[in-house]
Amino acid sequence: MAGNTFGNLFKVATFGESHGIAIGGVIDGCPSGIELDLDAIQTELNRRKPGQSKIVTQRKEPDTVEFFSGIFEGKTTGTPIGFAIRNTNQKSHDYSHIKDSYRPSHADYVYDKKYGFRDYRGGGRSSARETASRVVAGAIAKQFLSNIKINAFVSQVGELKLNKNYTELNLADTELNPVRCPDQEMAAKMESYIKEIKKEGDTIGGVITCVIQNVPIGLGEPAFDKLHAELGKAMLSINAVKGFEYGSGFNGVAMKGSAHNDQFNTDGTTKTNFSGGIQGGISNGMDIYFNVAFKPVATIIQPYETIDKNGAIVKTQGKGRHDPCVVPRAVPIVEAMAALVLADYTLIHNSAK
Ligand SMILES: Cc1cc2nc3c(=O)[nH]c(=O)nc-3n(C[C@H](O)[C@H](O)[C@H](O)COP(=O)(O)O)c2cc1C
Repeated sequence: MAGNTFGNLFKVATFGESHGIAIGGVIDGCPSGIELDLDAIQTELNRRKPGQSKIVTQRKEPDTVEFFSGIFEGKTTGTPIGFAIRNTNQKSHDYSHIKDSYRPSHADYVYDKKYGFRDYRGGGRSSARETASRVVAGAIAKQFLSNIKINAFVSQVGELKLNKNYTELNLADTELNPVRCPDQEMAAKMESYIKEIKKEGDTIGGVITCVIQNVPIGLGEPAFDKLHAELGKAMLSINAVKGFEYGSGFNGVAMKGSAHNDQFNTDGTTKTNFSGGIQGGISNGMDIYFNVAFKPVATIIQPYETIDKNGAIVKTQGKGRHDPCVVPRAVPIVEAMAALVLADYTLIHNSAK
């Protein structure tokens, strides 16, 4: 299986399956001398972990990260940082019904066809449990970036859409509710809607908006490694992601150039920011902002029809502990992937000087 490593200079390779002994990773290329706040890393993991509220999967995992290398006396040494998170709350029998059949719209069918064999327990490597390792690496990248601020929040659940620009919101309020929407009134509506969906044994999609502030001018390489291209790859590599747009995104299509052009102030900042902080693939010092769309995930706790290994139609019933809507738990994952891109592109930029 190729493609378990992300990044060019600040790299992370992840390993592990949902119901194996542990998941984890190796960060290769993290500069030395960064004072690490280990509690802050664990706090990020706690934002992603299952069982944190009634609107997420009730799998109970402490998700405690253990570090094995690369840190000495609280600082990074510049050597590979190895870490793991033990899996402690597997209920593999919940998955025996998908051993020989495939959940529609999950990864079961393609894994079997591609590899001829799969660890079906908890979705194996296709489980979003893998993203806990990304959150650890991203938390370290955030500490490396220190001045750059990355804040993601839920801006849509199903048809409930927050019609406010991020500048009209207090992003510090995101953690005040289990949905992770900084508008408390909208968050309450989203929360009750997710509860309804959960009662039906169904799932619903959502959108996460991410804002990156204090980005210096110059990150991003002009041809294939444009900053927004790498952010797009990072976001689209997250399980269940179906869409990525930055700046004016798809809405910009309906505007005329005369309205869409970001007019300069004399200090080089711009009066508007439809560019989303990136021009020609390079950060221009304005806020970077983008939206990430997540689908309603595949596992529904309802009867459904599918096919088995022999292509025969089977009727089955979804089981196990699943997320009715993944966006509340995906907020720290989006931030982590954004931090990994920014850390990597900072090192690339510095190496070209
Ligand atoms: C935080 C998070 C939690 C998820 N939880 C579930 C889940 O409980 N059940 C499920 O079927 N899919 C879940 N997914 C999505 C699957 O991992 C994903 O749909 C699957 O690997 C197939 O990949 P694709 O949807 O990107 O094609 C979750 C995704 C994220 C980001």
